[in-house]
Order: sequence, then C-alpha cells, then structure tokens
Amino acid sequence: MSKRKQIDLSIDKIEEQEKYIEAIHRMNEGLFNRTGYRKSYFCTTFGCQMNEHDSEMLINMLEAMGYVQALSEDQADLVIYNTCAVRENAELKVYGNLGHLKSIKKKRPDMKIVVCGCMMQQPHVVEEIKKKYRHVDLIFGTHNLYKFPELLESTFNRDKIIVDVWDVDGEVVEGLKSNRKFEIKAFVNIMYGCNNFCTYCIVPYTRGRERSRKPGDIIDEIRSLVKDGTKEVTLLGQNVNSYGKTLEDDQKISFAQLLREVNKIDGLERIRFMTSHPKDISDDVIYAMRDCDKVCEFLHLPFQAGSTSLLKKMNRHYTKEDYLKIIEKAKREIPNLAFSTDIMIGFPGETDQDVDDTIDICEQVRYDSAFTFIYSKRRGTPAAKMLDQVPDDVKHQRFERVLEVVNRISGEKNANYLGKTLEVLVEGASKKNEAVLTGKSRHNKTVNFTGGDKSMIGKLVQVKITDPKSFSLNGELVK
Ligand code: 5AD
Ligand code: SF4
Repeated sequence: MSKRKQIDLSIDKIEEQEKYIEAIHRMNEGLFNRTGYRKSYFCTTFGCQMNEHDSEMLINMLEAMGYVQALSEDQADLVIYNTCAVRENAELKVYGNLGHLKSIKKKRPDMKIVVCGCMMQQPHVVEEIKKKYRHVDLIFGTHNLYKFPELLESTFNRDKIIVDVWDVDGEVVEGLKSNRKFEIKAFVNIMYGCNNFCTYCIVPYTRGRERSRKPGDIIDEIRSLVKDGTKEVTLLGQNVNSYGKTLEDDQKISFAQLLREVNKIDGLERIRFMTSHPKDISDDVIYAMRDCDKVCEFLHLPFQAGSTSLLKKMNRHYTKEDYLKIIEKAKREIPNLAFSTDIMIGFPGETDQDVDDTIDICEQVRYDSAFTFIYSKRRGTPAAKMLDQVPDDVKHQRFERVLEVVNRISGEKNANYLGKTLEVLVEGASKKNEAVLTGKSRHNKTVNFTGGDKSMIGKLVQVKITDPKSFSLNGELVK
C-alpha cells in the first residue's frame, strides 16, 4: 500500500467515527433537553502510560459524545475498564470489579459495561468474560481503539455482548488526537508494539509487532499540543530506542534524531521519554540527551535483574557489565542525571546470589526511584513453562529485601536536594491544602511548595527545597 493511501485510509476511518460521535451526542443532548439528565461515564485504567494515554483518547471521545464524568463507578451510565495483562494482579482485579458490577447492572439494566485493552487481546480472557460475565456489553482490544464510538453505538439496540478484537499488528490509525483537552503535560505515542519477546512478558502478544509513527505526524501532533498550551511531552513506546526501524527509507530517522527534532519546537519546555531498553540505547541517544536543553535529566532504564545468567534466560541481550557501562557513560555525559528502573524479583531459577547482583546494581547506580515487581506467570510466554518457578514465600522475602534497599537509596537521593533550587513545572494545587502548589522537577521529583498562587499553574518556577521527604520534596517559591 502506498503511503498516501495509508494516510487517506486513516483520515476516512476517523471521519467515519466522527459520524457516530455526532449521532450519540445528538441522542445525549436530546435526553438532556427533555429531562435535564446528562449521561455519565467512569473509566478505570490499569497498567502503563500507554494505557493511560489510550484512556485519555477514550475519554475525549466520550466527552465529545456528551457524556460527563461520574462521581463513582456505581452511579455511572457507562463503565469502562482499560485493562492490563502484564501481571496477574491487575487481571484478577478486573474480574473482581466485573463481578461487583453484576448486581448493580441488575438494578440498572441500562448501564453499559465496556472492557478493552491488553487483556482482551488474549482469547482465553474473552472466552472467560463471555462465559462468566454476561452482563458486559462490549469488548474490544488495543488495535481498534478508534472504533469505540461505532462499537458503543452498536450496543444500544442489542442485548448480546459485542466483541471486536483485532489480531496483533494493526495499522497505525492517525488523527485520534482531535478533541484533546488542554494538558500541561501530554503523552505522545511514537511507536506501538514490541519485538523483543522477553521471556516473561505478554506485551509482544497483546500489543503486536513494533511499528513507528512517522516523524512528521509526531512533530505535527506536538506542535498542535504546544499551540494549545502544552509545556511538556512524554514520548511513549515500549522500546523508544529502536524508534524508526520500521519507517520507510525516505522517512527514516533514529530516536536520537527525533529527540533533536522535537527539541526544536518553539514553546515546548520539556521532553521526557519512556521506556528505554538497555540493549538499544545508543551513544547518540545519550549525546542527544546531553545536547538538547528541553530533554529532562531523567532516564528510566529498566534492568529487570542484576545477574547476567538470569538476563540471558529473560532474553534481554545485555550483561550486568553492559548495563553498568551505559549508566557510567550517561552519568559522565549528563551531570545530575536522575535514574529510575524496573526490577523483577522471582523470575524462574532465581537464586539468592542473583538477588545479590540485583542489589549490587541498585547500590552502584543509586536510582532515584524504582518500580519493583514480583514475577507473575503469563500464559503463552516461554517463562511460564519453565520448570524452576520460585515459591511465592521466597519471592516475597526477596522482594522485601530489594524494596528496603531501593527505598533507602531513593530517600538518600532526595535528602541531597536539601537547600537546592529546582525548576518546577507547576501542575496544580495540593488536594489537602490549596495554599500548597505541586509540580515536577526536571528530575521527575514531585515538588510541593508554598509562596505561590494558582496563576502559576502551567508555568515554570524556581523552588528552594527546605524539607525533602522519602517520596517527594517540599520547598518554597524563590521570588
Ligand atoms: N511479571 C512481573 N512483572 C512483569 N513485567 C513485565 N512482565 C512481567 C511479568 N510477567 C514488568 C517488567 C517491565 C514492567 C513494565 O513490567 O519489569 O519492565
Ligand atoms: Fe515486554 Fe521486553 Fe517488550 Fe518491555 S521490551 S514490552 S519487557 S517484551
């Protein structure tokens, strides 16, 4: 298919959906004019920032259809679960919540229940819902999000559950950003899917193969966000460092080049990105981070496990030494760089010595923050079939051991900020105390401060840190 055709196809698809949005909007306005009642939605998101961003788009569509946000799930006319399949806990929660909704829907049969996202890309999940949770109205997956208005409309005159899950590797449908609300910080997808097949991970099966968005589309989207007032973008992908590989030759640029292009956008203040895979982070990316003034001094670089033999079994394609070399280089090139990571405990075959290696990496890198996960068996992945699974009680003991180290170090790193002045992008007022404003530093630290006022929301200000806490920093505005 030629490039031109692909773009037209996407525009056609979006335009088709606009018709459904308008039709539902008319229906909802009619109801409001007759009764004064506005239909409401409640959306719950599980999982990563990709899902958060997908939910933003779903919410934008719902609001364009005339729905307003409900105060609670039980009162909503439409409940959406945007699900995650990465760990079992999140899946169990979705089933639990669906169970809870059964009795509510009995009392209010007009309530619509929608389940979408990564879990739905697994056929056994869809079967389970069809069998045990017949009160669900609509199921769709990760590849046809843009079709939500049409699918929703089709539930209005049908009692039966509607299922529309596409196979992995769908095309990239552009243009969904319309109706986006003003956001100080915005997520921007730069690629979809993952080709890495880490042996524990379900994502390549639920999100499909890696596809990069065209640089022009990404830049246009960011320009339009900035025109509407956005100050910070986070470039999203499962493995942003391999951005560009699927682009055609005349469009091909690397992630480092993309960072340099985004950095040129006038009016944009900050650039972040996630997630990076250690096997693909090039020197060029580190140099681009160093050279681009808008790229924040923050690197999320998951290492998963410290032991080289475990990393091999995970299919990660780097050793402990490779990882530490990247960190060393990044620290050398970018002073004051803050680090975060993902750590997995309890992968099959893990020994106490392997956990020592994990702790050793934590001590050497000194992460500002770390997400620590207990390995969860995922059906269909190679690791689920490995025979040397670690018993639950051992996993939990090791998890506690690592968590203690991670928390100690992040507390120590925060303590270093005492007396320092940081640039903060103000996001809002604190929920507990309106006189306290809150925002993020370039290092991705949450900073709460006094001395400002609400007119500063959306602006960059300087804050002197007076009271560092374990998970945030308190300070005062520098006037
Ligand atoms: N069990 C536990 N954690 C997982 N992750 C991915 N798959 C699993 C799994 N099966 C974690 C990894 C990844 C993060 C997003 O989720 O640490 O980096
Ligand atoms: Fe999963 Fe590995 Fe891909 Fe990350 S890089 S999404 S952990 S398969």
